[in-house]
Parts: sequence; C-alpha cells; structure tokens
Amino acid sequence: MEVVIQTSKKRAEELAAAIIAQQISEKPASTLGLATGRTMEPVYAELARHHKDDGLDFTKVCSFNLDEYIGLPPDHKESYRYYMNEMLFDHINIKAGNTHLPDGMADNIEEECHNYERKIHANGGIDIQLLGIGRSGHVGFNEPMSSLSSRTRIKTLTKSTFEQNGPLFDDPSEMPMHALTMGVATIMEARYCLMLITGSEKAEITAKFIEGPITSMVTASILQMHPKVTVILDEDAAANLTMKEYYSWVYDNKPGWQNLHD
Ligand code: GLP
Repeated sequence: MEVVIQTSKKRAEELAAAIIAQQISEKPASTLGLATGRTMEPVYAELARHHKDDGLDFTKVCSFNLDEYIGLPPDHKESYRYYMNEMLFDHINIKAGNTHLPDGMADNIEEECHNYERKIHANGGIDIQLLGIGRSGHVGFNEPMSSLSSRTRIKTLTKSTFEQNGPLFDDPSEMPMHALTMGVATIMEARYCLMLITGSEKAEITAKFIEGPITSMVTASILQMHPKVTVILDEDAAANLTMKEYYSWVYDNKPGWQNLHD
C-alpha cells in the first residue's frame, strides 16, 4: 500500500483526478470503478475539466459504480445514479450505455446482484477502482462485519452511515435503510485501487484502516492485502498516522522510473 500525503485537500483531489486521467490516456478503453460521496465531487469536477480543457476522451471508457440505495429511482436527487449524472457523466463524453450502477429498483435484487458481477466480469474486470471511506470504515457500503470475501449484495446500513449521509436528504428519514454494494472481494479484484480521504473527521478511521489490523470491523483494512493500492490523503486525514514521516520518505525517494502505482 502506498500512502501519499498532500499538503492541501485541493492537491489531494487533483492528484486523484490526474491518476485517473493518466489511466484513460494510456488505455482509452479503461474500465473505471467509481465511488460517490462528498469527497469525490471535486475529483469529478477536475475530470470534467480535463475533458473540457485537455480533450480527455471518455468515448471508450466503461464505468461501474460501487453501490446504490435500494428504493430510490434514478431521478431521486440522492440516488447515486442522479449523483453520477450530475457530478460527472453529464459533463464528459462517456456513452450513457457504458455507465453502470447496481439497480436499487430491481424487482429481483438477488438476480440484479449476480448480473452486476457478471457484467463486471464480461467487461474484463476493473482497471482502476476509486474508493472513499465511510466513518464506519466501509468501502462501498460494506459495513462492519461484512464478509471479506463478499460479492455484490444487499446490506443494511449502520447508524453511523445514517448520521453521515442522512443530512444529505431533504428529509433525513427518507434515507433508505438498505443498499446494494459491490462486495469486498469484488473490490479486491480491481487491478488497482485508488483511495482518496480528506478532512479531519476521517483521521481516526484512516489510522485504523492503514495501520490497524485487518478486520471485518473496518472493511477498508483488507486493502492491506491488495497488491496495488494508492491512498491519497490531505494533512487533516493523515493527522493520526504514527508512521506519517516514513510514508512521505518513501514517496519522496521513489525511483524516478516508477509510476505512482508501480
Ligand atoms: C457513502 C458511499 C461510500 C463513500 C462514503 C464516504 O457511504 N457509499 O462509497 O466512500 O459515503 O462519503 P463522503 O465522501 O461523503 O464522506
């Protein structure tokens, strides 16, 4: 796991966007794994800027989102489909048919989960998976006690996730109690994972996830087992790390010929 600490939130967001832009430039038919949440909004704005100013081309790109609430139609402004259209898809030249999210309105949820896994597989798997972290330590909506070998399925959300995401709803009681999420094992199959964490409210969980034991109580901690992970942090999110200086030492002394995620 490579930990990269940036001096500001903006620099952290720009670096995350630059890595995704580089991936698409090198492989125009990349499959992206995408995440939602407040953390990602500036990353998507920056990717839209790369498209507008630098001609970054998304026509061959395909995307799979991590998760979706159950019971929210795509035109509900807190659905993740709505979020993705607003934040990214409407501002770039990705083909709508190449963008995928689990369907939280599906009649047969179990079948939808199997189909989602099948579609990821049929597309050749995910090249780069963008990840945030919830205060509960979740990736996607893999709440504490999620099986570390889980696949796409339904999850009941924790109280801490309600406290975190509820205020985004006009009426917090409208927030669904369940979501569909890629499983921990689905995420672990991505060829490269790029996690972005910013802000002091994530400092505690960041230290647990990076420096604590691997445990289903903090599902993000399984990324310690992934062969290719970059975690980008701002100073606030990095505040509780005990090995902070070492991570910066490693990054500053990276051989010039190595790419960020080599
Ligand atoms: C949600 C999403 C996660 C995301 C997390 C963090 O719960 N399911 O994928 O990482 O929120 O959100 P925020 O960036 O708003 O803190």
